[in-house]
Amino acid sequence: MNSQTVLSQLGKNAGTPAISDLMRLAFSRPELISLAAGFVDQNSLPVANTESAWRAIMADSQSAKAALQYGTTQGDPVLRYALAQMLADECPHLKYNPGALAEQLIITTGSQQLLYLIAEALVDPGDIVITEAPTYFVFLDLLAARGAEVIGVPIDEGGMSLGALEQCLAKLESEGRLSRVKLIYSVSEHSNPSGLSLADDRRAPLVQLAKRFSTHHKIHILDDAAYRGLAFDGKEPASLWSHDRSSEFVIHARTFSKTFSPGIKIGYGVLPEALLQVVLGLKGHHDFGSSNLMQRLILQVLETGQYNGQVERLRAIYKEKAETAVRTMVETMGDLHPKVRWTIPKGGLYVWLTVPESIKTSRNGDFFAACLDEGVFYVPGEYCFPHEVEGAMRASHQMRICYGVPSKDKIREGIRRLARVVRRFID
Ligand SMILES: Cc1ncc(COP(=O)(O)O)c(C=O)c1O
Repeated sequence: MNSQTVLSQLGKNAGTPAISDLMRLAFSRPELISLAAGFVDQNSLPVANTESAWRAIMADSQSAKAALQYGTTQGDPVLRYALAQMLADECPHLKYNPGALAEQLIITTGSQQLLYLIAEALVDPGDIVITEAPTYFVFLDLLAARGAEVIGVPIDEGGMSLGALEQCLAKLESEGRLSRVKLIYSVSEHSNPSGLSLADDRRAPLVQLAKRFSTHHKIHILDDAAYRGLAFDGKEPASLWSHDRSSEFVIHARTFSKTFSPGIKIGYGVLPEALLQVVLGLKGHHDFGSSNLMQRLILQVLETGQYNGQVERLRAIYKEKAETAVRTMVETMGDLHPKVRWTIPKGGLYVWLTVPESIKTSRNGDFFAACLDEGVFYVPGEYCFPHEVEGAMRASHQMRICYGVPSKDKIREGIRRLARVVRRFID
């Protein structure tokens, strides 16, 4: 007998996500203040809303049985229509037809499943995906497992630099490699990890750029809008997706994880026609439909207005937390500016903190160890960079700070501890 397990190439490539080590750290040393976990605020999770939605579903035997049955792969048509209506309401001037939009819409098990399905549908080993640098590291891990070549494009205050993107695409064209470019990925709203959004006036030009370089085939844009809805002032520009009027290039990925509850794990996407059937086929292989019960729950909270109420509460909570984080950075490290600098989020859960290049924030470095001794930790910035970054160095002197989980007191204390270490390491 040979007891060896021979893995597929994908299995071999799967690896262990870098972040699991940080999760273990948080569980094994609860005394540490974690500014690392990208979890949502624990106290505001919508227990009462979920309970009343649950009761409403279960109160009627017909609706309860429908919810407890399998649904369709594409997702509950009533929920899809409600979501299409929501999307249409976000940009009334575009006069979307919700009925038609609902047909392009697919419900997924979190938006992560949609990211996976899109990569599965489009990306072969050796294909090129262009991302912001820094970007959502879970997607980077996924792309690495698929054998993709990932090229990062630097960001500034307005998100992805379109000049650098154009340069990158032109270079790939001159090298005869444009035919390998399948996808441009943007975390367009209050990005994980930078906290910054793609500027309003870059959205239409980004779509134009993808179209212009689509000479071999369509270069799709994956508009990961996981944090859309969490703008502190409630105002957000028209989505990146809405600038693709022909609905051919941009894939719009959304989720209820950040704006309602990650435990419910329901996301959705709007897909170009050419991708929809393929992705539905692949989703059929995955699970042939996301939890019908959870879809009904989301529909219930949408219909009763509880969802909108919750989003409003969250905006106020995260605004206060973000202000606490930024104010404490100003108090404790303001005099070190601009050697030490940070983004100022207008929504979402993250601040991106940059220290001088001489300070390496890597997981195995002295700085990280000193932070642990001080009782605080963060996500090392280098996790968020692809190996290749267009026209720039892959930075290792940055940190992702998440203010989602800790209380305001813990945020203040965590940043004070971090600042003490920064002061010790700074030249
Ligand atoms: C940028 C981004 N996209 C997608 C996801 C996936 O979330 P979910 O699958 O819970 O919708 C996350 C989760 O942290 C995220 O930060």
